[in-house]
Amino acid sequence: MLQKKMIKKRQLLNKKDILKILSEELKESLKELTIFEEIGSTNDEAKTKLAEIKNFNDSLAIFAEQQTSGRGRSGKTWESPAKVNIYVSYGWYSSLKLPDLEGLSLASGVEISNHLDPIIGESVKIKWPNDLFLSEKKMGGILVETSSNKKGTSIVIGVGLNVLMSDKKENSIDQDWTSLSIHFGKDYDRNEIAGLMLEALFHLKNNFESNGFSHYKDRFEELNLLKNKECLATLKDLSLKGLVEGISENGELIFNENGKIHRLRYGDVSIRKI
Ligand code: BTN
Repeated sequence: MLQKKMIKKRQLLNKKDILKILSEELKESLKELTIFEEIGSTNDEAKTKLAEIKNFNDSLAIFAEQQTSGRGRSGKTWESPAKVNIYVSYGWYSSLKLPDLEGLSLASGVEISNHLDPIIGESVKIKWPNDLFLSEKKMGGILVETSSNKKGTSIVIGVGLNVLMSDKKENSIDQDWTSLSIHFGKDYDRNEIAGLMLEALFHLKNNFESNGFSHYKDRFEELNLLKNKECLATLKDLSLKGLVEGISENGELIFNENGKIHRLRYGDVSIRKI
């Protein structure tokens, strides 16, 4: 019994099990699904491979069991130990222009939370702009990278989810973190979660392209970890204390500093609860 449990825990990511749970529509769109045993960063690989994508319906997915140069937002490293977590990048070419993509990053967190909900039975909260939290601890992160060229706008969404990582493992994560198995006290099938992540990002591709961020705003507010909380926002050389009131139509954080309203844009600011 114990042995069986351990085998399950160490089951590697594999294409067959991931494909099993994907919708026909997504399988049709997916021109590449590759799983690397080890790679620098799945986002970098996805960006390179996007050059081979031909039209706006197509997409690609790159997974890795381990990343040697996993990247987080704001130039941080993303801790990526082998065979315990999910590291995936999903990419496509969009006809939307870069300014139309405001809010994409927040919307990606909403899709991921919505898709995890049925299998974990709890809503993953989002710390603006898109950190994924369970009981005040970071369980995952999202790195959205976009650029435009003559083919359109290339979009790569990288997701790192702590799934089976145990707190006994040595790592250098510089904030309170958790994993699905620590939080729920049980193991999860990484192939199932991998498939769910692809469905979430495929939904994002379709819904965001047709409806933009307005489709996601209300749900984001429901999941907003910082809403109505006293926070400290750090901009370049400035620190502000205030209350997070919510988010704007295009995903800025509405921050009330003693009656003075700031609209904080992601990328310019880091924020934490006081
Ligand atoms: C963050 O919270 O800072 C974002 C973390 C994003 C990590 C993922 S793991 C898959 C993809 N490849 C990377 O190098 N980064 C993203």
